[in-house]
Amino acid sequence: MSVKTSQNSFLTTTSTPPRLDMSGLSAILFGHAAFEYLNAACELGLFELLHDTGELTKPEIAAKLGLEERAGDILMLGCTALGLTVKTAEKYTNAAPITALIDDGDWQRFKDTVAFEQYIVYDGQRELTESLRRNTNVGLARFPGTGRNLYHRLGEDSRLEGVFYRYMRSWSELANQCLVEALDLTNASQLLDCGGGDAVNAIALASANPHVRITIFEMPHAAEIAKRRIAERNLSDRVLVTTGDMFEDAFPAGNDVILFAHQFVIWTLEENTTLLRKAYEALPPGGRVVIFNSMSNDSGDGPLVAALDSVYFATLPEEGGMIYSWSQHEQCLADAGFRNVQRHAWSGWTPHGVIVATK
Ligand SMILES: C[S@@+](CC[C@H](N)C(=O)[O-])C[C@H]1O[C@@H](n2cnc3c(N)ncnc32)[C@H](O)[C@@H]1O
Repeated sequence: MSVKTSQNSFLTTTSTPPRLDMSGLSAILFGHAAFEYLNAACELGLFELLHDTGELTKPEIAAKLGLEERAGDILMLGCTALGLTVKTAEKYTNAAPITALIDDGDWQRFKDTVAFEQYIVYDGQRELTESLRRNTNVGLARFPGTGRNLYHRLGEDSRLEGVFYRYMRSWSELANQCLVEALDLTNASQLLDCGGGDAVNAIALASANPHVRITIFEMPHAAEIAKRRIAERNLSDRVLVTTGDMFEDAFPAGNDVILFAHQFVIWTLEENTTLLRKAYEALPPGGRVVIFNSMSNDSGDGPLVAALDSVYFATLPEEGGMIYSWSQHEQCLADAGFRNVQRHAWSGWTPHGVIVATK
C-alpha cells in the first residue's frame, strides 16, 4: 500500500530531498515532540476512536479517552498542528494516511512500529553524536541487559522482546509481498532463512510456495518464538527451526536458496560480505541468495525513512550497520562471487527492496 504524504503534515516530503524552509527546520528541532504526540495518540486510542465515530468535538474526544480538559487541549493541539487530525468547524477527523492505514488493515502494523520506536529505539538514539564520533553503537549502553548486542539483550527481557518481535513481524509484513513476488521459487526445493526472526517471512514464502521446505537459522530465544508461530500456522512439517550463530556456525546444508531478511542493515559491509561468502560456499552452482531489507538511494540523499531509520542502526543493535544503498549490497554480492544480480524495488511507503543473485 502506498500512503500519499498529506500537504498538512509537519514535513512535506514530496521532493527528495525536501527543500527546507524555517517551518521545516523548526519541525526538525521539535521532531522528538512530534513523535511523542503520535505515540500518545496511538496509546490513548485516538485514531481508532475517530475512525469508529467518524468525527467528534474536543470535549467528546477528551471524555471518551478519559482525559481532563487541559490534556485534551494539548493532545488535539499537537495532533491537529501536525496534520495527524483535521479540524473542520468544531469537529475532528483522522488525516487521510491514517484512515488509509486503518482501512487497508495495516494500522496495527503501523502501531507496532510506533511502539518499537518508543520503547526500543528512542533512548539509544540520543547517542548518535557519540556513535558517529566513535563509529560504533554507543546507544546500546542505554538498553537494559548485559548481552553483547541488542539481540542477545532481547533474550533477557521478555517485555522488550515482545515489543521487538511484534514490530519485526509488522515491519516485514508491510513489505514482504515484494519478497513473495520477486522471488520465483518454482524450481527451488529448500530455502534457508538466516536470522529468520519469528518466521514471518518464512511463513509468507511457505504459504505462497507449497512445495518448498524452509529452515530458519536463529538464536535460541528467537527460535522458540518462531517455533510457536510456525505451529500456529500448521507449517511445522515444512518450516523447521535450527539454532546457531550465523558467524560462528556452519550453515545447514542442502539449501538451494539462502535468504537474509532485515539482516544486512545490522552489520558492517565487511561482515555482510563474510556472510555472503559463507552463503556462496553453502549453495550449489545455480543456487540463489536473497537480500530483503530497506535500501537507500545510490545517490545518498534518501529516501527519508531510510535516512531516519539509519539512526537506529548507527546507535543501537550492533557496532556496524545502516540502511545501505542498493549498490553497496551489489558490491558485497560481487565480492562474494555472485552474478546475475537483480533489483526489485517496493512501491510502498517503507523503503524496502529485494536483491536476488545467483552462484
Ligand atoms: C532484524 S531481525 C530480522 C528478523 C527477520 N529476518 C525479519 O525479517 O523479520 C534480525 C534477526 O537476526 C537474529 N540474529 C542476530 N544475530 C544472529 C546470529 N549471530 N546468528 C543467528 N541469528 C542472529 C536475531 O535474533 C533477529 O531475530
